[in-house]
Amino acid sequence: MENEEKSPTLTVLHNGPYIVEGKLKMVDKDGKEVILEGKTALCRCGHSHHKPYCDGTHVKIHFDDTADL
Ligand code: FES
Repeated sequence: MENEEKSPTLTVLHNGPYIVEGKLKMVDKDGKEVILEGKTALCRCGHSHHKPYCDGTHVKIHFDDTADL
């Protein structure tokens, strides 16, 4: 059991990004595979300048996940 890896977890932060924890293969928009390890914040507001990663822009734009689109 010591070498057993925990399943990755995705947590949705209130008015913020998706937090991915654990080891996970992500395929980007160009089909390139990226291994995510540890904790990674993925943009949920759509305004990051470094997509798919969160760059903190959601704070500046006062992202409100309760607002209608
Ligand atoms: S959620 Fe952080 S920049 Fe979009």
